[in-house]
Order: sequence, then C-alpha cells, then structure tokens
Amino acid sequence: MIKGRLITLEGGEGVGKSTQARILSDRLREQGKPVVLTREPGGSPSAENIRRLLVEGAPERWQPMSETLLHMAARVEHVAHLIQPALNRGEWVICDRFIDSTRVYQGHVQAVGEDVIDKMHEITLASLMPDLTLILDLPAKSGLHRASERGGKENRYEQMGEDFHITVFNAFRALADKEPQRCRLIDADGPIEWVSDQIWQAIMPLLEAP
Ligand code: TMP
Repeated sequence: MIKGRLITLEGGEGVGKSTQARILSDRLREQGKPVVLTREPGGSPSAENIRRLLVEGAPERWQPMSETLLHMAARVEHVAHLIQPALNRGEWVICDRFIDSTRVYQGHVQAVGEDVIDKMHEITLASLMPDLTLILDLPAKSGLHRASERGGKENRYEQMGEDFHITVFNAFRALADKEPQRCRLIDADGPIEWVSDQIWQAIMPLLEAP
C-alpha cells in the first residue's frame, strides 16, 4: 500500500513557518511528490471558521479548556476533510502547526496539562502523529517583532505578552529534546535559504525510505 507522509512545522510566532512550509512543498513537488500544503488552526472550510474564533479578539476571550476544545474541533474537521484523505491517497501533507502546538500552547503554557491534551488527541483522532516535526527555533523577542510587522486582525496570541511567548519558546525546545526520533530542531535565526537547506537535510531520510 502507498503510504502518505505527514510533516509538521512548529515554533513560536513569526519564526518563518509559513514561508518554509511553502519552500518545502515546492521542493517536494520538484521531486515529483504529490503535496498538500495546509495549516492549523484551519485548513478546511469549517476549521477556518473556528480559526477566526481563536486568532481574533481579546486574549482573555476563552477559558483555556474552551480554547483547547476549539483547537481540537478544528483539527477533527481538518483531518477528516483534508489530511486523512490525502494520506490515504499516498500524498505528502505539509502542515503549518498541528498537535504539538496544542500540547505547548494549551497543555503547557495555558496549564491544561500535556497529559490531558494527549488523552483528548487519543479520543478524537486515535493519536494521529506526524512522521516528522520540524521545530523552528527563534528567540521569542525576534519572532514577536517579525509577527508584529505583519499587522492584521489575527493577533490574539501575539497580545498574550512576552513572558507567554518565552514559555512557548522554551516548551518547543523541551519537546525537541524529549522526542528526538520525531522532532528536529531547526535554527531559524538566519537567511531563508539557509533555514530551508537545514529543513531539506532533515527531510532526506524520509525521501529515501520506501
Ligand atoms: P499561526 O499564527 O501560526 O497561524 O497560528 C495561530 C496561533 O494559534 C498561534 O499563535 C498559535 C496558536 N495555536 C494554539 O494556541 N494551539 C494550537 O493547537 C494551534 C494549532 C495554534
């Protein structure tokens, strides 16, 4: 049976995930791979509706548990309508954020508990995990500065303050240490091509695998 691949990009605000996800998708297509490029929260019409509830408005708009449930609901829709069908067709799914963002932002930083998130992921999506997770590592201050330059309405998480984002940064590093088989820490503090070359090196073993 042909096997699809799920590759996720993770990290704090403004670390360059979307740019790198696009470059990676283009490179894979050049190699003849069928690619679906997507993002969370969002990625399917119903999940994009939920995204607006999460990324717009006041930081204190949701209780941490409600926020968690919204992210989970968006993910269930996204997996059902886009990710799982693509994986079943044997395609490569490149996803800008996935379950590790919920583990870090809601589980750790918003103190819902990483064990609670993992249990909810098991119940909702049979613990679907990426084949490879690229964690883009950039100090919170630099990332927030980049993110603020983007402007727009989607700034609810940016408004959560620097301490919140320093905790996010440290939690992603800890995750890379804890799960070295699946996660690769990518130094994102450099030119775009330099970062994308590190990502390509990390992808190589998957390209060569049957
Ligand atoms: P984005 O700016 O990378 O599109 O992500 C929007 C925000 O959503 C980002 O600040 C992180 C947050 N987020 C969570 O808090 N939990 C999640 O599960 C996901 C997917 C994103």
